[in-house]
Amino acid sequence: MKMRSFLSITLLLLAFLVAAAGAKKSKAPVKPVGLIPDYYKVTGTCRQAEQLVKQVVQEKVRNDSTLGAKLLRVHYHDCFVKGCDASILLNTVGTNQSEKDARPNLSLGGFEVIDEIKTRIEKVCTQKVSCADILALAARDAVSFPFKKPLWDVLTGRKDGRVSLISNVNGNLPSPFSDFATLRTIFSDKGLDINDLVALSGAHTIGVSHCGSFSRRLFNFTGKGDADPSLEPAYAEFLRKQCPNPASPATVVGMDPNSTLTFDTHYFTALKKHQGLFQSDAALLTNATSADIVRRFQSRDSFFKQFAKSMVKMGAIEVLLGDAGEIRKDCRFIN
Ligand code: HEM
Ligand SMILES: *[C@@H]1O[C@H](CO)[C@@H](O)[C@H](O)[C@H]1NC(C)=O
Ligand SMILES: *[C@@H]1O[C@H](CO)[C@@H](O)[C@H](O)[C@H]1NC(C)=O
Ligand SMILES: *[C@@H]1O[C@H](CO)[C@@H](O)[C@H](O)[C@H]1NC(C)=O
Ligand SMILES: *[C@@H]1O[C@H](CO)[C@@H](O)[C@H](O)[C@H]1NC(C)=O
Ligand SMILES: *[C@@H]1O[C@H](CO)[C@@H](O)[C@H](O)[C@H]1NC(C)=O
Ligand SMILES: *[C@@H]1O[C@H](CO)[C@@H](O)[C@H](O)[C@H]1NC(C)=O
Repeated sequence: MKMRSFLSITLLLLAFLVAAAGAKKSKAPVKPVGLIPDYYKVTGTCRQAEQLVKQVVQEKVRNDSTLGAKLLRVHYHDCFVKGCDASILLNTVGTNQSEKDARPNLSLGGFEVIDEIKTRIEKVCTQKVSCADILALAARDAVSFPFKKPLWDVLTGRKDGRVSLISNVNGNLPSPFSDFATLRTIFSDKGLDINDLVALSGAHTIGVSHCGSFSRRLFNFTGKGDADPSLEPAYAEFLRKQCPNPASPATVVGMDPNSTLTFDTHYFTALKKHQGLFQSDAALLTNATSADIVRRFQSRDSFFKQFAKSMVKMGAIEVLLGDAGEIRKDCRFIN
């Protein structure tokens, strides 16, 4: 704990020094160096921020154990589309549809929990804590709740964006039908490597999916009424029972069926047995390097360590810092 605050202060000092040096040389706007641990404590802008997030999340997860999966997915969708700037939280205003309205938003949830956290924080620190930071912290705290300790670090200091367009979603979020090359390209465009790709796909160890995201693999893979041969036949049969053709659009199945609520390595155990739910999951076995990583992540220690590292990287994608962006009053609307 001591070490951490020492690190925070050092980092902040460094940020000021770099900024001051930059300011002397030219009148160019100050560009902060990056996210830091405990931003709101270190800057004194809202010392209680992280504690408040944790409190509300704990109250909510206790009643709804699916919240971890929901918030983790919202955070991921936020970061992959225009960076972790809370653009995913913005509602459509007027005729411009926002990111939320895109096809892959199907089943996104947990927005009301973000609203509740924001309301509580605004009462004690008015317009000091960004929605982007709240989302990153809430996702971590919700997934970590059963472990009684944080599973990964969340650096803070993000600002909120002012733009959210449905047209930005396309090409930035992989589809469940993506092959390995597509996944690699999209992830590496975000600065994420092959270890990050495999580790972050492990998020599918929790949560649910609608039948439409994989039913093609069960019934009509090549248009000849066939199943995807890379899907283990008994598992395909198990899925066909839950998702008959055509399935109700409301039906959902657990992505990691025997442990949908447990964040563990079971996603990788199942994947190795060709029981990955999406083509994009199965795709991780189609490249030798990535298949090796899938084998490595059968070990809990290896997976948890890499997942923690990859979440810090994902949480830093194209963040808005310093004077960029704003701190929203209401997470659903720009100021
Ligand atoms: C590798 C590319 C990825 C693809 C193609 C993908 C695709 C999907 C799809 C299709 C669903 C189900 C949506 C539905 O039909 O309801 C889903 C759910 C989910 N995804 Fe991903 N995803 C990917 C990566 C990630 C990453 C990087 C994370 C987080 C780090 C993540 C976290 C989740 C979670 C937690 C759920 C369950 C949500 C819930 O239960 O409400 N996914 N994903
Ligand atoms: C959680 O559920 C309990 C009982 O079902 C209820 O009394 C309580 O108000 C709920 N808490 C929240 C934060 O929703
Ligand atoms: C609507 O979309 C255009 C680009 O298509 C953008 O320039 C403009 O800022 C958007 N307006 C709002 C209110 O988001
Ligand atoms: C997702 O988009 C649809 C329109 O395509 C919209 O009706 C729905 O409200 C959106 N879901 C969320 C959670 O915003
Ligand atoms: C399977 O796909 C083919 C080609 O896309 C289509 O013509 C056929 O109607 C589909 N069959 C079913 C049962 O969905
Ligand atoms: C779930 O667990 C049961 C009983 O332990 C086992 O028979 C079944 O194969 C498992 N299903 C999957 C999809 O892993
Ligand atoms: C596997 O993926 C890596 C990273 O994209 C790539 O460098 C390598 O050539 C691929 N291996 C094969 C056999 O395609």
